[in-house]
Amino acid sequence: MKVIANWKMNLPTPDIRSWTENFYSNVNLDDSKTIGVAPPFTHISNCVTYLQNLRVGAQNISSRDLGNNTGEISASIAKDSGASFVILGHSEVRENLDEQSSLINKKIAIAIEKNLSPVVCFGESRESYENGITKDFVCSQLKECFEGIKAETIIIAYEPIWSIGTGITPETNEINEIHNTIKDYCKNHLKFVPESVLYGGSVTDKNCKNLITGENIDGFLVGGASLDGNSFARIVNNCF
Ligand code: PGA
Repeated sequence: MKVIANWKMNLPTPDIRSWTENFYSNVNLDDSKTIGVAPPFTHISNCVTYLQNLRVGAQNISSRDLGNNTGEISASIAKDSGASFVILGHSEVRENLDEQSSLINKKIAIAIEKNLSPVVCFGESRESYENGITKDFVCSQLKECFEGIKAETIIIAYEPIWSIGTGITPETNEINEIHNTIKDYCKNHLKFVPESVLYGGSVTDKNCKNLITGENIDGFLVGGASLDGNSFARIVNNCF
């Protein structure tokens, strides 16, 4: 996948209908299987119906399989409702639910076992960025999250925490360099080549044209600007 919409906890069903109309009337793309949408869990099956040629995914899963785990959604149940991928390790989940890398590691393993493609997010705080330790920070997150994982089709999303929802992005060349480091680290230390390395954090239909010029920037994970089908279609159009 090259462009993924992360709807977070937004868009009730009536809005999904108008999103779909707006998206399809503006997008110019034949192979839409490279585009993913991650709605809230309860909308996954609706989205599979409405967004016929897009991939639909979950925004998280449990680290456990079926069983007595009140309030959790297993990989199998997400898959059953039509999800084909899952976003893991998003900084909002790491923070709001206090998810540590060891738990994300278990979730990656179960996602792979159940055939859900993991889209795993990594990114540094403003403080780490200002201290110039972004690369070390991201590589240590990668090491912890992929410990012992036999990776196959993994998508990585580099999302600096200070850029999410703030309207501020690093420069294209800075992102490109981090993506290069991520690709090298995966190849040399984790022994897999990610399917793609996406950038996420305040991506819009305006700045995506410049960001996509980075040779290591394979596409985007988009939050706020994906909530409007027109704007998401324009982002997709600019990436292909
Ligand atoms: P944003 O969110 O595009 O609203 O910054 C991105 C994300 O959290 O994945």
